Amino acid sequence: MYGVLLLLLLFFTNPASPSSFPDRFTKSLSANLLKHKSQEYLELGHPLPFDQLTPSCSHRVLRHSFANTMNSPPFSTGYSPPSDCPSPWSHIGLEFSAKCKGEQYDRIVGLWLGGAELLRTSTAEPTEKGIFWKVRKDITRYSSLLARCRLNLTMMLENVVDHVYTGVYHVEVHFLYYNQNVAVALNPVMRVASIIPYQNLGTVAYEPADLILPISDNGDKGCWFRIERESDFHSKEIRIPRNTRRLVLELYVSFHGNDEFWYSNPPNLYITTNNLATGRGNGAYREVFVTVDGEMVGSEVPFPVVFTGGINPLFWEPVVAIGAFDLPSYDLELTPFLEKLLDGKAHSFGIGVADGISYWLVDANLHIWLDHRSKKVKAKSSVLPLPPAIEVNRGTQFKQLDGVFKIRAERSSEFVGWVKSSSGNYTTTFSQRYNFKSSIRFAKNGTYKLVKQKVKAKREVKVENEKGAVVLRTRVRRRYPINVITATLPGSHKDTYVLVTNMSHSMKEKSLHGDYSSQVYNSQDSRGWMEVKDHSVLSGTANTEQSFRYSGEFGCYSRTVGTSDGNLIRDNSTFRCLSVS
Ligand SMILES: *[C@@H]1O[C@H](CO)[C@@H](O)[C@H](O)[C@H]1NC(C)=O
Ligand SMILES: *[C@@H]1O[C@H](CO)[C@@H](O)[C@H](O)[C@H]1NC(C)=O
Ligand SMILES: *[C@@H]1O[C@H](CO)[C@@H](O)[C@H](O)[C@H]1NC(C)=O
Ligand SMILES: *[C@@H]1O[C@H](CO)[C@@H](O)[C@H](O)[C@H]1NC(C)=O
Ligand SMILES: *[C@@H]1O[C@H](CO)[C@@H](O)[C@H](O)[C@H]1NC(C)=O
Repeated sequence: MYGVLLLLLLFFTNPASPSSFPDRFTKSLSANLLKHKSQEYLELGHPLPFDQLTPSCSHRVLRHSFANTMNSPPFSTGYSPPSDCPSPWSHIGLEFSAKCKGEQYDRIVGLWLGGAELLRTSTAEPTEKGIFWKVRKDITRYSSLLARCRLNLTMMLENVVDHVYTGVYHVEVHFLYYNQNVAVALNPVMRVASIIPYQNLGTVAYEPADLILPISDNGDKGCWFRIERESDFHSKEIRIPRNTRRLVLELYVSFHGNDEFWYSNPPNLYITTNNLATGRGNGAYREVFVTVDGEMVGSEVPFPVVFTGGINPLFWEPVVAIGAFDLPSYDLELTPFLEKLLDGKAHSFGIGVADGISYWLVDANLHIWLDHRSKKVKAKSSVLPLPPAIEVNRGTQFKQLDGVFKIRAERSSEFVGWVKSSSGNYTTTFSQRYNFKSSIRFAKNGTYKLVKQKVKAKREVKVENEKGAVVLRTRVRRRYPINVITATLPGSHKDTYVLVTNMSHSMKEKSLHGDYSSQVYNSQDSRGWMEVKDHSVLSGTANTEQSFRYSGEFGCYSRTVGTSDGNLIRDNSTFRCLSVS
């Protein structure tokens, strides 16, 4: 109790503790920041490959209003595939639509079918006149799951509605089923030979898996596992069919609370030495890792998604940050580990967050491809010359509230194994490599903070036949830098403060899958300031520039937008091929 009181006191006497920035905020309605009518929000992305096709059928599979749902179990409804357009389908699209009006924080949302996650999204913060948006996603890779009957479709969206926070999120989800095998490119004029789903960041499967098994929770707090600290390691026992010929683990993650801005967290020594009240510590390195029977099989430094209340909520209207409406999932190739998984026994699949603090929401799906012509497949993992290597170097230097904190980390791993199925004996090599650099600088007695982080990741899957010839190579290279500046100034009232915020981030991805290659360059640059009372934005101004470019097997697409104080002031798009970088 004493601790709580002390914290409260610190909080009220020092509402603008600069060390806890960036932070999350809501847009106060009384500030009359937005005068216009109900507005559509959006995230830039490429059109889906089947956009030009007419679905065979479209079904509303979920409709619910999420009011005061905090601490309630998720919303669940029954799902069975449509009888008017039975499987097989060539493509399946998911359409998540939401609307909201009033004052509200951004909220994290998970959607699961039979416990397997289909979509991780977050909500936009509403306005008095109301906002609405749509998220569209290619969910063809979950076809085998979508063909199953009597599953539960579950959505978790924890929201608080009271006299201050009035926004209720009204959500609908539609599934769109297609069974046209006509290949269509992004550009309606251009046609290509085949369609490959590429939505997911990571190694992409051409053919949807035969079976999808969730590594998720079946509790009443949603199907995700909640990680509060590094030692919160969650695992699930799963039995893999003995005729599995390929195995890919798809990881979903999001970070919240004291780790929502983990990439900007200073080391604990800085916080304790300066007697700061913030819980945002543990340094700025995080790694989500996956284990099988306790052995590490892969890891990910996740892309730093900024939610719509994050850093400066005025940046994210009406165009949200990269990934905020469709958080990336990450694929780890587990085929090299099949040897020990094909014994017909249950094995433990675990997920944890290195250096994580409260809280992370994680789960995963196992995508399993079977050998339909045999009951048992043989596999063997190669003994590795070197275990997965990680090297983290940290530099800490500060005097009172000013200082510099640097981290450099490098990880590389390689796993090899062969699988002999009825189609032959193939050797799969999965290699991963990261390069992580971070620097946090506090100046002006801690009121100025500059955060710079750069992640370079490379992941490759190579499949060779018995003669040693490479039959498939999948390679994804990604770069995702983020820079955030926050500067705290006194406000116009005793209980307010001004926060000057600048940030830029991008996702540059080059991927190769066999003969197909694609490139995405997505970058946002935001500048502005706001006057804040507690966590409510009273006034401010903000501009965001975004440039999105895609080129690949579907042709090209590019879109450039500019927003200023809640208005879309520029929006140009073209299917012409421009240079990507
Ligand atoms: C679906 O959810 C209901 C209620 O949460 C539960 O009783 C039922 O067992 C679930 N069905 C399946 C197939 O998981
Ligand atoms: C620096 O900030 C601390 C805490 O906010 C304050 O107590 C101190 O007086 C400041 N020092 C100067 C030189 O402004
Ligand atoms: C499969 O191929 C690997 C590598 O070429 C070889 O070492 C292994 O013995 C083969 N397995 C079988 C069952 O033939
Ligand atoms: C933010 O960016 C603007 C425009 O480039 C610049 O004038 C300003 O100094 C920056 N603010 C901070 C705190 O660095
Ligand atoms: C971009 O769009 C604006 C209007 O939104 C238009 O005035 C301008 O000419 C366009 N620029 C290009 C290069 O197409």
